[in-house]
Amino acid sequence: MAKKFIEDLVKEMTLEEKLGQMTQLSPEFLGIDPTMDLTGPMNEFNVQPQWLDKIGSTLNGYGARQLRAIQEKNMKESRLHIPILFMGDVVFGYRTGFPIPLAMGCSFNPDNYEKASHIAAKESAASGLHLTFAPMTDLVRDPRWGRVMESTGEDAWLNCQMTKAAVHGFQGDDFKEKGRIAACVKHFAGYGAPWGGRDYNMVDISEGVLREYYLPAYKAAVDAHVAMVMTSFNPVNRIPSSANQWLLRDILRKEWGFEGPVISDYASVDETISHGVARDGAEAAQKCIQAGVDIEMMSTNYLSYVSQLLEEGRLDISLIDEAVTRILELKDALGLFENPYKDASEEDEAALHRCSQHLQAAYDIAVGCPVLLKNQGVLPLGPEVKTIGLAGPFAGCEKTEADESLYLSLKRRLPYANIITAMTEPLGSLQRGIKDVEDQVQAAAEALKDCDVIIAAVGECGEDFGEAASKTCLRLSPNQERLLWALKQTGRPVVMIVHSGRPMEIYPVMDCADGIIQGWHLGCEEGIALADILTGKVNPSGRLTMSIPYNVGQIPVHYNAFNTGRPTQGKDERYISRYLDCPNEALFAFGYGLTYSRFEYSAFETQVLECEGCCPDETVVARAGITVKNVSDRTGTEVVQLYIRDIAAQVVRPVKELRGFNRVELAPGEFRTITFDITREMLAYWNNDGEFVFEPGEFDLMIGSSSADVETARVTIGQSR
Ligand code: GLC
Repeated sequence: MAKKFIEDLVKEMTLEEKLGQMTQLSPEFLGIDPTMDLTGPMNEFNVQPQWLDKIGSTLNGYGARQLRAIQEKNMKESRLHIPILFMGDVVFGYRTGFPIPLAMGCSFNPDNYEKASHIAAKESAASGLHLTFAPMTDLVRDPRWGRVMESTGEDAWLNCQMTKAAVHGFQGDDFKEKGRIAACVKHFAGYGAPWGGRDYNMVDISEGVLREYYLPAYKAAVDAHVAMVMTSFNPVNRIPSSANQWLLRDILRKEWGFEGPVISDYASVDETISHGVARDGAEAAQKCIQAGVDIEMMSTNYLSYVSQLLEEGRLDISLIDEAVTRILELKDALGLFENPYKDASEEDEAALHRCSQHLQAAYDIAVGCPVLLKNQGVLPLGPEVKTIGLAGPFAGCEKTEADESLYLSLKRRLPYANIITAMTEPLGSLQRGIKDVEDQVQAAAEALKDCDVIIAAVGECGEDFGEAASKTCLRLSPNQERLLWALKQTGRPVVMIVHSGRPMEIYPVMDCADGIIQGWHLGCEEGIALADILTGKVNPSGRLTMSIPYNVGQIPVHYNAFNTGRPTQGKDERYISRYLDCPNEALFAFGYGLTYSRFEYSAFETQVLECEGCCPDETVVARAGITVKNVSDRTGTEVVQLYIRDIAAQVVRPVKELRGFNRVELAPGEFRTITFDITREMLAYWNNDGEFVFEPGEFDLMIGSSSADVETARVTIGQSR
């Protein structure tokens, strides 16, 4: 029930004022151009001058001084003095850069995701932001899609844990509080499954798969009281999300009870025309308002056509009032009617942005994200290493977010080592192997051939991942592969660090390196975080949350695959579900990651508790436990993982699904028994009758160090079918 003052305000508003609240433009349209980055095509749309003092929100404008100026002008000149809502993309840090969310997922540490989100909230709130378009919680299974870097990975259950943490990190218990901002979960729904991994392409997912894998993390955000939901560019069941009543009204509002505003993605109201479900801007406005999109981002069909639609009886004013009420309620919940400037403060900007506490947090979080994929006795670099070779485009200082390059960090950590660099300049467009660099490669190998160890910092540069950065080839650029082979030819130990926003096709160069670290992009403390892992100051603890394929032909490859009617039995049979030229399994599996320690598992036990089958979802129906011992001489962190499998159900079920994990730090010789409670809800699945059900029967309970390395016990839970 809206507050009285909001009800009265809506009654007092003209139609144009209402439609202005339902429109979001970038700040330069409001005449003041704070530092902002354009995140989509700047389409031609007919912004009328009389609209400008009615626009309800802006995107991606930042800066306390600039946004205060915009707000001051609005509060002075607009008729009803409704505060503007400043929104923006703060996805992995604001001024203090944190690891990309895919790296954050690999930390298997929701608390760190919450901490990073809270710091991002403090810093961006000081710069005048009220709401962030984050967390992005699209399930991702296709590394050809450049935006996998914004997600925490391929597992719905883990994404739920990470999403809840991020929402609470941004919002706290009340986002009106200082240092908190509202969050907007995106992109609802199924944006992470474009055909061919090509951004903005068609998505076609059965309802069962949507419900089981693609929807849960958005629902986790709603259950965590996320303030807003952003629609996705893609169709769901052949209707673009922004025009999809089933998605936005039936599921999001009726089933899940979401009451906040829904915003379109960038121009996606307009794009219903190019999708072919709207003849023109008027029909685009009509369908998206009927579907329940309250704010049209970066297009102006609402302002342009709703008046005509109302006159023609194609829309009811009640839908407009409903949308405006939700928008005003969000502004009220942020306290903007009392204080339109919220936390915007140049003084706080100076005090908070990249302050020592935030940088320390960025370091503490970054060191937990890299994944050690291979280590044939080369890491950590021991005191015997006196001369280090450093090559590759990510070794130098030109890394975008990192405050300090890997080179300078290594020099700081190993002041007595002789560090020789070669071919560290950014290859830029050469990243894609456009120009032959053979002579540089040979020169690099010659320069580094007497080093005790060579570190190759390779990967993909900024414009090669993220939005609108889909690729059909996931290999390192030819130049970088050539460099790795030349370094291999020196016969010296080589460590390869992969700096990327996606799993890359590293199989072709696996043999070039004795050690491989998936380094992702780790933010402003990347250099020192990697140096501390290389030198053993930090024992790596990251585990993959997205499978690394042998090659792009395997995609989609993910751990929670289906058994099929002809599963491979590991034997060389013909008529089974397999490739002739590649294993079915990923090169590196979900949950995989090495450390400098060694852990042994023993005493795997399971226990089934009586379940009448009619008890509540959170009833514990089984327990599984195992003892983990650190049998090395180095303290380390093991991520003990729990998986389940439903042996027979009404619909096909994955061969395993993550349902729990426990990060446990153990000193040398220390051991601990880790127990997991298994509830009915954890075993439930979406049947084809429109509900999540728990069915008694046989299940495999699995515990291990990765999805590819588990102990398994088959149990019967509840009365068997
Ligand atoms: C972009 C992205 C979305 C972002 C929005 C505003 O196109 O799809 O993630 O939040 O526009 O920048």
